[in-house]
Amino acid sequence: MSNYDTYRKEGLLINKIKKVSFIDDIKNLIKKDFSRDINYYLSLSREEFQNIAVSTQNELNEMNIQKKFYNSEKEVFEELFPGKKLLHESVVFFRAVRPMKKGIKMEAPDFHRETFYSDHSHTPHCVNLWIPVKNVDEKNTLQYYPRSHIISDDDLSVEYDENSPGKVEKFSSGHKLGFLWKPKKLSNKEILGKPKKMLFKSYSYAMFSSMLIHGGSVNLSNSIRFAVGFGLIPENKMTYNKKFFASGGKPHYVPFS
Ligand SMILES: [Fe+2]
Repeated sequence: MSNYDTYRKEGLLINKIKKVSFIDDIKNLIKKDFSRDINYYLSLSREEFQNIAVSTQNELNEMNIQKKFYNSEKEVFEELFPGKKLLHESVVFFRAVRPMKKGIKMEAPDFHRETFYSDHSHTPHCVNLWIPVKNVDEKNTLQYYPRSHIISDDDLSVEYDENSPGKVEKFSSGHKLGFLWKPKKLSNKEILGKPKKMLFKSYSYAMFSSMLIHGGSVNLSNSIRFAVGFGLIPENKMTYNKKFFASGGKPHYVPFS
């Protein structure tokens, strides 16, 4: 099946990255910033750990990751959105999640689609990119409900989940890393069937509809898992482009060139 057909049908594409050198650059950054023994990172509070992660995210955002990824995958974008100008999120999120050990609770967001957290009419047109960098395997990868992107929001029961272990403070490092300060919970998951794991070969990535229900990437391995990600949208679908806290107040979406 073509990339176009797969994306429309499954709401998800997993592909190999063509020009991988930017991934190696991110690996080196991680090596430098997370050079200590795993037990040190496990001993930190979540806030302390997220303060380290946000400083890595700041460095990551000096590396033009969005453009490098775009240059690598130009042909795929052209196939999916022929002739369309694309905008990308003005921040690359650094997704570092510790193993659930020694009292560490779930740090990754629960299952959601992006319309849980944004009611702009452009949100269903957004595309998520999730790019594994290090230690991503079947014990900690992102999960999704197959073909859930075609289910209407009206069929989903969503409620606030103040007790979610992943809830962070507004304007904290965790918030800057894209974690949720007002988490929500999907309470009728049973209508979606069974979640599936996104499985990756090295140097590959997932591109998926913002409407595909995803999350639940609890880390049941022994290592910190590292991924990066950002969102995209065709420019002609964009409505209100708010200032984005995570990128220090830049517009949420900016052009590639
Ligand atoms: Fe998401």
